[in-house]
Amino acid sequence: MTVRVLTGITTTGTPHLGNYVGAIRPAIAASREAGVESYFFLADYHALIKCDDPDRIERSRLEIAATWLAAGLDTERVTFYRQSDVPEITELNWLLTCVTAKGQMNRAHAYKAAVDANGVNAEDPDAGITMGLYCYPILMAADILLFNAHRVPVGRDQVQHIEMARDVAQRFNHTFGKGRELFVLPQAEIEESVATLPGLDGRKMSKSYDNTVPLFDGGPKALKDAIARIVTDSRLPGEPKDPESAHLVTIHDAFADAATRAAFHADLRAGLGWGEAKQRVVKLIEDHVGSMRERYAQLVAHPEQIEAVLQAGAAKARAVATPFLAELRQAVGLRAMVAVPQAKATKVQAAKVDVPVFKQYREADGQFYFKLTAADGKLLLQSQAFADGREAGGWVKRFKTQGAAVLGEAPASLSDGVARETVEAALSALQAHEAEQEATKAAKG
Ligand code: TRP
Repeated sequence: MTVRVLTGITTTGTPHLGNYVGAIRPAIAASREAGVESYFFLADYHALIKCDDPDRIERSRLEIAATWLAAGLDTERVTFYRQSDVPEITELNWLLTCVTAKGQMNRAHAYKAAVDANGVNAEDPDAGITMGLYCYPILMAADILLFNAHRVPVGRDQVQHIEMARDVAQRFNHTFGKGRELFVLPQAEIEESVATLPGLDGRKMSKSYDNTVPLFDGGPKALKDAIARIVTDSRLPGEPKDPESAHLVTIHDAFADAATRAAFHADLRAGLGWGEAKQRVVKLIEDHVGSMRERYAQLVAHPEQIEAVLQAGAAKARAVATPFLAELRQAVGLRAMVAVPQAKATKVQAAKVDVPVFKQYREADGQFYFKLTAADGKLLLQSQAFADGREAGGWVKRFKTQGAAVLGEAPASLSDGVARETVEAALSALQAHEAEQEATKAAKG
C-alpha cells in the first residue's frame, strides 16, 4: 500500500540551518523511500495570516521553493506545489468550516495564546485577532484531507492541528459519508530521531530568538561569522572539553557521519581549542551545503524556472484534487440539476390524471368516425360519419389542441344524458395533458 505523506511550509522568512536539519532534509530523505507518495507544498495562504507585507510574502515563497529544490527535492517523484495554486483547498476549507465546531477553534493553541497575550496587556480579548488566525486549523485540515494524507510530519506545536483535522474528517465522514470513509484520518508524525538544532545561544534555533545560522544567505562568509558567534564555555585550548554539553557539538553532529563525530568528540576531550573546533564545523557544513548554495543562487536568479516547476506541481496536485472535490460536492448535495427520467415522469402523470380518450374508427358502413370517452370508458361525445378518415383525424387534432372551444363547430353531439360541462371539463383536461406532453417532448429535444 502507498502511504501518502504531506506537509506544508509556511512561507514567511528565509530558511535557516535549523529548518534544513529539522524539516527539509528529513522530508526529502523520507520522500525517497519506497511506497511513499509525498505532497510538499508552500503554505502561502497560511503565510497571509501571519504577514501582511506583500513583498515579504513574494520573497519568502521564492526562497523557500528554491531552498527545497536546491536541497535535492525530486519533483518528478514528489508533488511540490503552492497552496494558493490549488483552489480546491479553499473550496474544501468552506465545506469543512461548516462542520467544524466553534468551540473547538476556541481551544486552538495559537488562538488561545493570542487571547492570553491580550489579557496580559489588558486589551480586549479579540484585539488584533483575525478570522484567519481563528480558522487557521480548518485551512490546515483542508490541506491535509484534500489529498487523503496518512502521515503528516510536523513540529510538536502542530500536533493539535492534526488532531483537529482528524476530528473534522471524522465528523464529515459521519455526516456525509453514508457509511463511506470519504476522508482518511491523518496521523501526526514527529520524527524523534531528528535533532532539534540548537541556535547560537543554545536555545532551539529559531528566528524569534534571533539565534539562527543562515543556510545559504550571505554565502560562506555569513556561515563562518555565525558559527564564530556560537556560545561556548571559556575553556582554553589544551584543556579537556565535554562534547556532551556543547551545542556547537550538536550542530557539528547534525552534519557528520559516525566516524567524524567520534573523532571530533575525542579531539575535544583531548583539548582541541574552540576556535579550531569551529573551523572544523564551518568546513563540515560548507562541504554539505556549498554545492546546494550554488544551485540555490541559480534558481533565485531564474524565478521563472521555479514558477514552471510549481505550475507543473499544481497541475499534478489538481489532477487528484479536482475529481475528489467533485465527489465531496456530490456528498454534501451540491449537485448538478438533471432532468427526471422521462418514462417515469409520463407514467406518473398518466396514473395521476384521469385523461379522456379520443378514438377513431371505421364502421361496417365504410364511414369514418371518432368518439370521446371518459377515463372510465363512458361515452361523452360521438361524431357524425366522415367519408374521409383524414377529416375525422383533423377534428380530433383540433380538439386535442384547442379543447372545448371546438365543441360548437365540430360535427359531433353529446352523448345522451351527458352534461355539456362534463364534456367541456374532459376536453380541457385532455388539452392540458396534450400540452404537457408537447412540452416534455420539446424539452427532450
Ligand atoms: N501550520 C504549519 C506550520 O506552521 C504549516 C502547514 C500548513 C502545514 N498546512 C499544513 C503542515 C498541512 C502540515 C500539513 O508549520
